[in-house]
Amino acid sequence: MRVLGIETSCDETAAAVVTEGGDVLSDVVRSQVALHAPYGGVVPEVAARDHARAVVPVVREALSRAGVSAADLDGVAVTSRPGLAGALLVGLQAAKGLAWAAGKPLVGVDHLVGHLLAVFLRRSGAPLPDEHERPSFPYVALLASGGHTAIYRVDGPAIGAIRELGATRDDAAGEAFDKVAKLLGLGYPGGPVVDRLAAGGDAAAAADAVPALMARKESLEFSFSGIKSAVARHVAKRGRPEGQALRDLCAAFQGAVVDALVQKTVRAARAEGIGRVVLAGGVAANQGLRATMAAACERRGLALFVPPFASCTDNGAMIAYAGALRLAAGERDTLDLAPETRTALPRVTRKGGGAR
Ligand code: KG4
Ligand code: ZN
Repeated sequence: MRVLGIETSCDETAAAVVTEGGDVLSDVVRSQVALHAPYGGVVPEVAARDHARAVVPVVREALSRAGVSAADLDGVAVTSRPGLAGALLVGLQAAKGLAWAAGKPLVGVDHLVGHLLAVFLRRSGAPLPDEHERPSFPYVALLASGGHTAIYRVDGPAIGAIRELGATRDDAAGEAFDKVAKLLGLGYPGGPVVDRLAAGGDAAAAADAVPALMARKESLEFSFSGIKSAVARHVAKRGRPEGQALRDLCAAFQGAVVDALVQKTVRAARAEGIGRVVLAGGVAANQGLRATMAAACERRGLALFVPPFASCTDNGAMIAYAGALRLAAGERDTLDLAPETRTALPRVTRKGGGAR
């Protein structure tokens, strides 16, 4: 089975052709980062307009790199939720037009399910993972991106087999990286820059600027807005740090975020009695997170599965793969499929303040 996946939920226009076994035949990602950078974040209207310009060329390129035409496809998968409504609409309309014209089945994919299954993708160029480099079900997954941060128990690829164990009450982890980077004048998106600076910093030297994030240790919920406010107060009082002081502050901030992510993920795995942990989402690219999670899993005898960078950040391949599994299960959507801003995965964590 060869499935085209189209992703336009946020600030990447992406398309890919993937088999139901997870082999990535092509994967084209066109980032809008430069377009949104002057505003310090994604501007929804700007995103939707650029998707409209990019979606047809990106889909064409994905088909041509895979060496297939629309007639060769077994289906068209598209991100239908969650995301920016106007941005989602562009991908949905493109997918519907193509599916209708080529007479192929259409399936909508929940973007978060795509992230949670991206660990199964096989990319040529990267060493082919053997069976023990792909997890079996069930596994516990930490999904940390710019829009979402949650821990899930994944018993299978269907929506009904995925359960949220805990999520953020306020900002997503990537959002915290982006907001702190903006406060420090480091540009957008902030994750990669803070990651780089943190590597040369000493967290202990800036510990007073950053509060601990683990108010209630047994909870699996996160909160990242307090740490952002603490950095804002620090900058208001002392000005933007430079040189070593900047690197120290980045290390302290990143260390606090990473510790919360790692400790709660490991606790979730132990509470569920599951020995496999999977990382997903753009923040999974963070060097500090990868290293700290690897050490914590090794100490506790947990097997850790970390997808390559291209599978962590937004891409069409994860959407194509999740769609291929839906098609293989006999599922289809109709041409009245509409965008939804929320995920279909039930939330257990309520937004808002309080201890956690
Ligand atoms: O998954 P993704 O590409 O898009 C969303 O679905 O949100 O994640 C993007 C987020 C951004 O907030 C970005 O700052 C963050 O991932 N990110 C990182 C790193 N690389 C990307 N955060 C921390 N460290 C990184 N190295
Ligand atoms: Zn994403």
